[in-house]
Amino acid sequence: MENIPRLKAAFRRAYPDAPEPVVCRAPGRINLLGEHVDYNGLPVLPMTIDRDICVACAPRNDHRVRLSDREPPFPPAEFVNGPDIAPSPAGSWENYCKAAFQGLNRHFGVENPPGLDIRVSGDVPIAAGLSSSSALVVACALACLKALDKSLGPDISRIELATLLADAEQYVGTRGGGMDQAIILLGEEGDACKIDFHPLRAEKVPVFDEYVFVACNSLVKAEKTGAALTRYNEGPLSCRLIRALVEKQAQTEFGDEIELAHLADLWYGPLCLTNAEVASLFDAAFEKDTTTLEEAAAALDMAPQAIRDAWIGELPEPEGGFPLRARARHQLTEFKRVDAARDLALTGDAIGFGRLMNESHASCAQDYAVSCPELDELVAIARRAGSIGSRLTGAGFGGCTVNLVPAKDVDRFRATVERQYYRTYLPAHRIPCDESTLESSILLVRPTPGAGYLS
Ligand code: GLA
Repeated sequence: MENIPRLKAAFRRAYPDAPEPVVCRAPGRINLLGEHVDYNGLPVLPMTIDRDICVACAPRNDHRVRLSDREPPFPPAEFVNGPDIAPSPAGSWENYCKAAFQGLNRHFGVENPPGLDIRVSGDVPIAAGLSSSSALVVACALACLKALDKSLGPDISRIELATLLADAEQYVGTRGGGMDQAIILLGEEGDACKIDFHPLRAEKVPVFDEYVFVACNSLVKAEKTGAALTRYNEGPLSCRLIRALVEKQAQTEFGDEIELAHLADLWYGPLCLTNAEVASLFDAAFEKDTTTLEEAAAALDMAPQAIRDAWIGELPEPEGGFPLRARARHQLTEFKRVDAARDLALTGDAIGFGRLMNESHASCAQDYAVSCPELDELVAIARRAGSIGSRLTGAGFGGCTVNLVPAKDVDRFRATVERQYYRTYLPAHRIPCDESTLESSILLVRPTPGAGYLS
């Protein structure tokens, strides 16, 4: 947890004329299972972590929002608060704050909201797949509620706020789902959560008594802006095409009136298909490994450009076509794993849970292509070091792995991963890692309460 007196002191130094600040806290999260499925409305199994983003904030007499952070990569920023806030250049950190403010001002229909002075501080590792960015969005949203004189609970429920912020965060350009905002707001101390999106709800799932979850940072930056944004968006955009093709197939099999707003509608809503029925629908919709844009256009009776306009935008077409069969398979197998993992956690079966984590990594790497050599290596080393389940966590392409390690073996685990990954593999691959970086790269994480006010 951040040092609150220090944050308040920093606030007073940055804004000497401001009144006494209120502190809003939002934890980071680690996803245990259910990767790259939330944007299709499919359930996930994350937990909050004992690392957070805190913002100290106090109202202003005008409409300006001033932001500052102690970290040098986050320069001070300022904007006029309102329902239409112009974004800063892609990749600017203040866009996460603007996203929250714009979303809430629109929700409450406030044309001329008051301004705020905000000081940010946090210990969620940045670009590490632990959702520091959504934690910032949520913390800023709590600050914005203060400015609007609204209360979490009576004026907007946690469920409503999580839903609103998942939409609002699209402002930064990432086509993410609702997992991060939901767990950050609905997470509970001591438990993981299974999050369902239809409708949004969080069910407590116990963690294992004699095991700990350990995050290991690959030290490959998992940004979700710039070039990385294009790589992340490949998943959601491909899934939009998958949804359209599967909808067509479902109409052929079950009748023209079938509509799929999300892939999740296959399992929920009026269709209510079993996993076996979904599998056979996928087999029929994706007979080959790849589907070209021309083939998709023929199947949907649409012009290729219309498909781009409707769903996939500029998504580049790989030679031979989009690998939709494998991408769809990941959705189905990951859905089954989340369901099974919840049941295993309820019975305390850590070994079974760990096996599903391993299977999830394989599916993320092979079927969904969101891993990278460093993550694969870190996962392999972790398993040799005593982890019973290891996988990438979050968006992938770098960032952290999550590992389920017997509590009694944690020291050995840490020593082996330190030696084999941080002191051997990284230098051999010219990835810098000094002692202080190493120190903060292996984190034992435990679930803390969801976001809220500290004072
Ligand atoms: C990011 C997004 C989430 C989710 C994960 C992958 O963290 O913000 O919505 O899609 O990637 O599971």
